[in-house]
Amino acid sequence: MSKLLSPAQIAGLSLKNRVVMPPMCMYVVEKEDGKVTPFHHAHYGARAIGQTGLIILEATAVEPDGRLTKNDLGIWSDEHILGLKKLVDELHSLGAKVGVQLGHGGHKAQDALDKIAPSALAYNDNYGKPREMTLEDIKRVQKSFVTAAGRAQEAGFDMIELHGAHGYLINQFLEPLSNHRLDAYGGSLENRYRIVGEMLPAIKDAFAGSIWIRLSMTAYDETGQQNTITDWQTIGRWLERDGIDCLDISTGGLMELQPNIPIYSGYQAPYTNHMKQAVSIPVSAVGLLNAPELGEYLLQTEQADLIEVGRGLIRNPNWPAEAATVLHDHDFEVYNNSYKRGQFK
Ligand SMILES: Cc1cc2nc3c(=O)[nH]c(=O)nc-3n(C[C@H](O)[C@H](O)[C@H](O)COP(=O)(O)O)c2cc1C
Repeated sequence: MSKLLSPAQIAGLSLKNRVVMPPMCMYVVEKEDGKVTPFHHAHYGARAIGQTGLIILEATAVEPDGRLTKNDLGIWSDEHILGLKKLVDELHSLGAKVGVQLGHGGHKAQDALDKIAPSALAYNDNYGKPREMTLEDIKRVQKSFVTAAGRAQEAGFDMIELHGAHGYLINQFLEPLSNHRLDAYGGSLENRYRIVGEMLPAIKDAFAGSIWIRLSMTAYDETGQQNTITDWQTIGRWLERDGIDCLDISTGGLMELQPNIPIYSGYQAPYTNHMKQAVSIPVSAVGLLNAPELGEYLLQTEQADLIEVGRGLIRNPNWPAEAATVLHDHDFEVYNNSYKRGQFK
């Protein structure tokens, strides 16, 4: 049996395999109220039937102004809980474990009425300049993440992931490129980490399941103003100390698309590997891992503990079954007998 498709006890989760659907914004909430739609049931349901072990719902905003667009999902109000719970219950009944990515876009929140960020620095000319967050703003956003974690608990999620990557608010705090603050939340690495470190104990009190964070381990900046790999490894160790169960390693998104980004199969895996060497908690890999052999290789050589497949699962909700064929995994089980019949001509 392949490691990719074998059951695993990992990051506090009991998973039927190591295939993870990473968070991917669908921007389909036409009513602009942040609530789950029938599309979400069909979209995520298809991937649950396809035997994805863990489905992480798209970036879901902890505050209305934390949305990238008005069509994002939200978890900023108690009114969101019921719709999320129905979705979680359905995905559970289809056999998947379910998580949600908790996000705040900071200066990337395109539609925000009051755009906030660690520093008054625009993402680019089209996004508009944010307001530098006051200490009250920081406390409020921390509280919003904690309250959102509590709502995720009520909705029955198995895991939550803090969005600390791709130039979202937490990423903006962590990187010196986007954090020019002169107070306790800027300057040293310790200060830039403070917003996360301070809220983790309360998040752990609010949410009993597995708590992950997604990090961008490089901004592809070539001017020497970004965190080094060693800095990220230090952040990883602090996150482990502060109770994070799994580190989801990505890259980029803080600056406008850089021409120097090398894109190839597994292009982010070297970063996953760097983080694996620094921490003892599980590390999840993502980024053009569509070839099942590549995921299996990263798992077997202990360069990663979980394999996320994003665009591959958009193209093919039955990606795990295809992976089983490629890996000659005869123990892999499709959803039910009718789906089994679909395997043969
Ligand atoms: C349509 C789309 C929406 C995405 N939305 C999010 C998101 O909400 N949060 C996030 O962290 N990454 C997001 N991503 C990035 C994916 O989670 C993933 O890291 C990326 O697509 C690389 O993996 P892949 O090569 O397997 O697609 C998005 C990607 C796509 C294609």
